[in-house]
Amino acid sequence: MNILVVGGAGFIGSHSVEALLAEGAQVRVLDNFSTGKQSNLPAHPNLNVISGDIRDAEAAAQAMVGITHVLHLAAQVSVPASVADPVGSSQHNIYGFLNVLDAARRAGVKRFVYASSAAVYGAPENLPLDETSPVAPLSPYGLEKSINDQYAALYRQLYRVSSLGLRYFNVYGPRQDPASPYAGVISRFASAMTRGDTLRVFGDGGQTRDFIFVKDVAQLNKRALMSEADGVCNIATGHSVTLLELIDTLAQCAGCTPQIRHEPPASGDIRHSSATPRKMMEQLDPPPMTALADGLKQLLETPV
Ligand SMILES: NC(=O)c1ccc[n+]([C@@H]2O[C@H](COP(=O)([O-])OP(=O)(O)OC[C@H]3O[C@@H](n4cnc5c(N)ncnc54)[C@H](O)[C@@H]3O)[C@@H](O)[C@H]2O)c1
Repeated sequence: MNILVVGGAGFIGSHSVEALLAEGAQVRVLDNFSTGKQSNLPAHPNLNVISGDIRDAEAAAQAMVGITHVLHLAAQVSVPASVADPVGSSQHNIYGFLNVLDAARRAGVKRFVYASSAAVYGAPENLPLDETSPVAPLSPYGLEKSINDQYAALYRQLYRVSSLGLRYFNVYGPRQDPASPYAGVISRFASAMTRGDTLRVFGDGGQTRDFIFVKDVAQLNKRALMSEADGVCNIATGHSVTLLELIDTLAQCAGCTPQIRHEPPASGDIRHSSATPRKMMEQLDPPPMTALADGLKQLLETPV
């Protein structure tokens, strides 16, 4: 397999590249290094890294030469940035996405797997979420991801492009930017605990999230590329925890008793989030999921 990982120098991308190289694949990365880093990637004879931007159709087309499978992860990933500059965000997340999808179609690739997001569901009334739950994004970012899902569905129908959109929940692990809206809270809490600082919790800490370990996500990305599953698929563990439970587990792993300061709830914060990963379990045949405590230990052991 010749695999193009677009956004491969980022958090999820670099772990995915490692998993694909371990499988013996030839991997090419296309990245503009806006948030990704060259140092996230290993030096490996089967890895070729190209610096380029998905807003440049020619760069996307060039990167596709000789490619059989595409994992598209590049995006403007910040929800607040999408609210501050919706037009700029759409250039990466709609126009850039379409450049990559269309280049893949024209190159006749066998499989196109891309990052969608739990953000497409907004603040749902009914939990847990499955793939038939209503799509009701609350930000330009969430809307852009749902438009990606619609484009992929249309390309499947019009041009027979085999695709799967992965609706990641809160991915955490080594190399995550502490500013990440998904699970950056884990990186922030981990470094605050290591320094002995007080942890700032917005609200009562009862908000729930489904945290999934990045190395599990990398395995799932690999399986999604090999599979023929189509449409969209929730990527989650199916077990949500409260923020206070998360802090407790992290404190046990770090062997400390952190001080917590509660601050007013963040505006627009979604109270509860939980997912049913039934389609993922049935169609992607995942390996056993890493327990939260084990993933947190690996995160704590990784130098920042
Ligand atoms: N981390 C999560 O929990 C989470 C949850 C839901 C969805 N996602 C989605 O997963 C994907 C990967 O997210 P991540 O957390 O690894 O973020 P990240 O910022 O670490 O990775 C994104 C990568 O894309 C590159 N990139 C950005 N804009 C580009 C452009 N115009 N051209 C070329 N490269 C570009 C960046 O340099 C970076 O390497 C994104 O599409 C994100 O929206 C992530």
